[in-house]
Amino acid sequence: MNLIYVENLIKEYHSGEESVAAVDNISFSIDLGEFVAVVGPSGSGKSTLLTVLGGLTHPTGGQVVIDEIDVYALTAEQRADFRKEYIGFVFQSFHLIPYLNVLENVMIPLAVVDAPGAEKTEIALGLLEKVSLADKARRLPDELSGGEQERVAIARALVNNPPIILADEPTGNLDSTTSHSIMALFRHLNEEGQSIVMVTHNPENLTYAGRFITLRDGKIAQNSEALKQPLIERIPINN
Ligand SMILES: Nc1ncnc2c1ncn2[C@@H]1O[C@H](COP(=O)(O)OP(=O)(O)OP(=O)(O)O)[C@@H](O)[C@H]1O
Ligand SMILES: [Mg+2]
Repeated sequence: MNLIYVENLIKEYHSGEESVAAVDNISFSIDLGEFVAVVGPSGSGKSTLLTVLGGLTHPTGGQVVIDEIDVYALTAEQRADFRKEYIGFVFQSFHLIPYLNVLENVMIPLAVVDAPGAEKTEIALGLLEKVSLADKARRLPDELSGGEQERVAIARALVNNPPIILADEPTGNLDSTTSHSIMALFRHLNEEGQSIVMVTHNPENLTYAGRFITLRDGKIAQNSEALKQPLIERIPINN
C-alpha cells in the first residue's frame, strides 16, 4: 500500500539574488512498511527533502501526500496535528533541551496528549528501556555520550508511536559499534511495522535498508528497486 507519495516536488531557497533548488522537481513513492535510505553528497538536498516530507518546510511546488492526506493543502494548525499523529522526527543535530533530564526530554511530545502523568511517564520509560537508557533517565543531556544523546532523540521521536519515522543522519557522529546498535534498533522498529525514511552518509547503514534513493543536486540520481529482503541479509556487513 502506498504510504508516501511525492510528485514534482520543488523546494527553492532564496538568499539575495541567488536562488537554489535544494529539491528540484522530484517524484517517488514509498510503501507502507518500507525502510528507505536517502543518500547523496553534502548539499544534495537530503535534509531539505526530509523536512518537506515531515510537514516542516513548505515546498515551492509539487505535492506530498501521506496516507492520502495532501500535507500542504492542510492549514498550519492541521499540519501540526498531522505531524503529531504521523511523524517521528530524528534531527541531524539532536535538539535535546539541555536543562531537561532524559526522561523529560523524551516526554516532550506527550505534553499535548490527554492522559494521566503516571501513564505518560510509564510510556517514556518503556521507550528508554527499548534504547537501553532506562538507568540514565534522570541525567541531563550533557552528562551523556553522543550515542546516548542520539538514543534519547530516537526515544523522543518514537514516544507517540508514529507510523512514520524520518531520521536525518542518525548515526552521524557515532563510532561504528554504536552506529550498528542504533541501526539494529531502526531495523527492529521497521520489523515491528514502522515505516522509515533515513538520510545517511554511511554506506554501511545502507545494508539495513530495503531500498535507497540517491540525490544529486536536488534530483534523483538513482532509485533502487525495492528489495524483498533487507539488504543486510544479502551483504554481510563485516567483509
Ligand atoms: N535555509 C536555507 N537557506 C538557503 N539555502 C539553504 C538552506 N538550507 C539548505 N540550503 C541549501 O540547499 C541545498 C541542500 O541543502 P541540504 O541541507 O538539504 O543538503 P544535505 O543533502 O542535507 O547536505 P548534508 O549532507 O551536508 O547535510 C544546499 O545547497 C544548501 O546550501
Ligand atoms: Mg543534511
